[in-house]
Amino acid sequence: MKAAMSTSLVAPLLIFFTISLVVSGSALSIDYYAETCPDAELAVTEVVKEAIANDDTVPAALLRLHFHDCFIRGCDASVLLKSRGRDKAEKDGPPNESLHAFYVIDHAKKAVEKMCPGVVSCADILALAARDSVALSGGPTWEVPKGRRDGRVSRANETNQLPAPTFNFTQLKQSFSQRGLSTKDLVVLSGGHTLGFAHCSSFQNRIHDFDTASDVDPTLDPSFAARLQEICPAQNRVKSAGSAMDTTSTAFDNTYYKLLLQGQGLFSSDEALLTHPKTAGFVSQFASSQEEFFEAFVKSIVRMGSLEGGEEVRQNCRVIN
Ligand SMILES: *[C@@H]1O[C@H](CO)[C@@H](O)[C@H](O)[C@H]1NC(C)=O
Ligand SMILES: *[C@@H]1O[C@H](CO)[C@@H](O)[C@H](O)[C@H]1NC(C)=O
Ligand SMILES: *[C@@H]1O[C@H](CO)[C@@H](O)[C@H](O)[C@H]1NC(C)=O
Repeated sequence: MKAAMSTSLVAPLLIFFTISLVVSGSALSIDYYAETCPDAELAVTEVVKEAIANDDTVPAALLRLHFHDCFIRGCDASVLLKSRGRDKAEKDGPPNESLHAFYVIDHAKKAVEKMCPGVVSCADILALAARDSVALSGGPTWEVPKGRRDGRVSRANETNQLPAPTFNFTQLKQSFSQRGLSTKDLVVLSGGHTLGFAHCSSFQNRIHDFDTASDVDPTLDPSFAARLQEICPAQNRVKSAGSAMDTTSTAFDNTYYKLLLQGQGLFSSDEALLTHPKTAGFVSQFASSQEEFFEAFVKSIVRMGSLEGGEEVRQNCRVIN
């Protein structure tokens, strides 16, 4: 009985994984623009560099945009589309509070269009900008497979398909496996929380009315929890209030995993990685070796970045052709 259950759980995952690998393998390639727009990557990097010089929250924003994009309808730049009348787009759906830096993609697209009009997709530009963001923040760099197509559909109500900060292990695992991503990918991509800022709403479940026994999530380090309660009181909270995701929130490093082991992960979904032996093992591994985290991150983000959707190369990243 037990064996049969685990087989039936595992089999659909394997199939999904194989399909997504085959599809991406046939379409995406590192040399995709070698003939048609050889300087596209340089142009994107220049724009991202300049934006970061003016605003050090840009890397976190661009990495989050890429992640958000890929988790809904594949990496098809659907997250960039504007709402059309009453049809609200992803970017105007909850939880969009911390989506920003759209202008960076617009600037990069403009620079690329000047060199080779109608060739490079917005989804590829976003994937490149995410890579540059990580690299320019002290993280690893990698070759981005390209050839994504931009989608024509973006629906606010589909943002409920994003893994939420309140998710437990079961929910996280399901969200990732539905996209052909493994539990290792889950731990590795959660490491993206090494960059950025979170509003109180995404972790208030842990510091107020946690459960009938306690106001505060008992897995939180008490002094860390007290600090969060101060920043995010139960009442009369400043709307923009929140906390940096880790203590080095503009550096792409393995501090996130170290803090997680000390009860200083911000979200329930971070803490959830410690509730399962396999994922807890990866957390310890990455906490003790930044090099192994970087190596794994490159593999996982390329895998996530290969989830396909889309059908055109948009002229303007905010609107369909
Ligand atoms: C989501 O929104 C679209 C319109 O943007 C609508 O057609 C669809 O029925 C909605 N789906 C759900 C599950 O509410
Ligand atoms: C988030 O959604 C709200 C409400 O639909 C919208 O007014 C706002 O512009 C959106 N934020 C971003 C960054 O797109
Ligand atoms: C995870 O959350 C879901 C949905 O709230 C719940 O049904 C499930 O029991 C939870 N799993 C664990 C292990 O807590």
